[in-house]
Amino acid sequence: MTDKKCIAVVLAAGEGTRMKSDMPKVLHSLAGRSMLGHVLNTLHEADITDIAVVIGPNRDDVASEIGSLAPKASIHVQTERLGTAHAILAARESIGQNYDQVLVLFADTPLIEPATLRAMRSRLDDGSAVVALGFEAENPHGYGRFLVDGATLLAIREHKDASEAERKVSLCNSGLMAIDGKRALELIDSIGNQNAQKEYYLTDIVDVARQHSAKTSYEIAPEADVMGVNDRAQLAVAERILQDRLRKKAMVNGASLADPSTVYFSHDTVLGRDVVVEPNVVFGPKVVVGDKVQIHAFSHIEDATIAPHASVGPFARIRPGSKVGEGAKIGNFVELKKADIGAGAKISHLSYIGDADVGAEANIGAGTITCNYDGFFKYKTVIGEGAFIGANSSLVAPITIGAGAYVGSGSVITKEVAPDQLAVARGKQMAKDGWGAQFRAASQEKKKAGKA
Ligand code: UD1
Ligand code: MG
Repeated sequence: MTDKKCIAVVLAAGEGTRMKSDMPKVLHSLAGRSMLGHVLNTLHEADITDIAVVIGPNRDDVASEIGSLAPKASIHVQTERLGTAHAILAARESIGQNYDQVLVLFADTPLIEPATLRAMRSRLDDGSAVVALGFEAENPHGYGRFLVDGATLLAIREHKDASEAERKVSLCNSGLMAIDGKRALELIDSIGNQNAQKEYYLTDIVDVARQHSAKTSYEIAPEADVMGVNDRAQLAVAERILQDRLRKKAMVNGASLADPSTVYFSHDTVLGRDVVVEPNVVFGPKVVVGDKVQIHAFSHIEDATIAPHASVGPFARIRPGSKVGEGAKIGNFVELKKADIGAGAKISHLSYIGDADVGAEANIGAGTITCNYDGFFKYKTVIGEGAFIGANSSLVAPITIGAGAYVGSGSVITKEVAPDQLAVARGKQMAKDGWGAQFRAASQEKKKAGKA
């Protein structure tokens, strides 16, 4: 790895009008993280710590995303949108700090891999002043084209400025670039705006460098890694590519996915070894799943920890702040929210358990509901170890059920239940012998007499 001093400049001043959104394009998310966040994370993985981000004016939302994900990054505002070269110069102050290398990234090109950044940096070591990153485009329309001679990059021609012959070239510009840090500002300052869009194109750095007799070259990446996101259809394509990467990663790390294309991950999902994930499972952010957990079909899990050997679903919903203990069973149509379920506890069917602690080995019967909310405040339910809650019980919080206690089915529990106590809170059963036969006889009489 190169030990050259490197700064990454991330261009994020795009308006993203084609997204038709109230939110800036670079904050749209893929697998639960903004596109800008993905780029910042890739820089982190590539050990690039000096980062300058160029944002549009009045973008407090973008600035705060940078502040939370890369607090040491400097933020620069491009006040007018006059092109990619103009955007980089907004970060002049940071770029001018005596760097050996300047890497340029686009916040709307979020799938770039750390290895590609490393390859571009090493290519600078061969004496190139500029290394542009290209790809073989399936449909080159709209992209800048690489005009090359062997390993030398002669020029990048923007689609709008390209001749018919040049438009036939399929080797396209991703927009990403590595530039010799000692010459970067001098070269970018020399870029003019004599082109179809009257913009300062960063791509013209190739012409400028050649005029300065500097070496210009290129690297090639797979198209999927450098695709740009300009609209929601491209956002969906990027999401699919990213999900495929996350699915592969889960399987490489020892999880079985019966039908990978139906499982959706968050960028930060952690699965242990020998986890089995059945089809149609969705992982929201912040999920950690221990070894040998079974996640059955159609389950939805977010911000939760599932301990080893537990089983979840089918059709379970595990909401934020939940913990499922070792070997615990969360069955079908069970919803957990901020619930800490002890080891070996069973909640097998049709329950809502929210704001609750459930002790180890407790058994929560079908249809049990924690009544945790009075319209203003949330209250907690505590169920002791080994307690048995009969089916269709309502536990009105705040409430404590002691260890080893029993709650009769159909109870509405409003008072504390002591350990080992039996609590039954429902109407008493009454019995009338022969009532059915009497009722039928009387009703038939009435009907004959024509009464209602
Ligand atoms: C750019 C490249 C093109 C390449 C394509 C790949 C240039 C001149 N062209 O074209 O060769 O094939 O990307 O997707 O570089 N930005 C600013 N300020 C500006 C202009 C742009 O911050 O004034 C940012 C945008 O937010 C975006 C990036 O720079 O992240 C690229 O700008 P965009 O307008 O999308 O360029 P393309 O026309 O896609
Ligand atoms: Mg673009």
